[in-house]
Amino acid sequence: MHLVINFKTYKEASGEKAINLAKKLENIKSKHTIILCPQQIDIALLAKNTTLPIFVQHADFVEKGQTTGWIPTESVKKAGAQGTLLNHSEHKLSFNQLKKTVEIARSFRLKIIICAATPDEAKNIALLKPDFIAIEPPELIGGNISVSTAKPELITDTLKQVKNIPVLCGAGIKKKSDVAKAVKLGVQGVLVASSVVLAKNPKNVAEELLKGFK
Ligand code: G3P
Repeated sequence: MHLVINFKTYKEASGEKAINLAKKLENIKSKHTIILCPQQIDIALLAKNTTLPIFVQHADFVEKGQTTGWIPTESVKKAGAQGTLLNHSEHKLSFNQLKKTVEIARSFRLKIIICAATPDEAKNIALLKPDFIAIEPPELIGGNISVSTAKPELITDTLKQVKNIPVLCGAGIKKKSDVAKAVKLGVQGVLVASSVVLAKNPKNVAEELLKGFK
């Protein structure tokens, strides 16, 4: 199972604080995989300072060279990322952009998680064969009601549409029971942010969420 923790651009998970957070999380003993998604600007720093796998929050399909202001996938790889999140509802891409990014990310052997807001979008995204698809209803992101509680049918419909690609779910996942419900529905992991990043004790919260995988 996979616990993917998106640092977003929270100040609690930026720069030095991103390192502190990663250090706390890497002390967790678990048979499950914990993946961190820090900001692009923190990748190199984190890669040097944590043993946990790092997936960048977004990478661009551009090549290195005359691409001012973009973040080439190659740079992300060289900075130490093992994978990339793409198409988060806070950073949507067109299908064509996604296709190009997936191609280039694959060429650099980066793992890929693509987010989808609906089962239909997930079905379309499955054509690109990412390593994971994460279903996240935007309206529940950052709230206290989890996708597995409020919209279980979104997860089951996604699982019907997506075959042979592990599905994750996210949005509003705050506690062990939210994770347990999601696992019961058939996901291979969860994507979380505020529950861990904004917690007084992020390690305790992450450990609690991991218990939901049992
Ligand atoms: O990428 C995960 C995120 O969108 C979910 O956020 O704060 O609802 O766990 P949150």
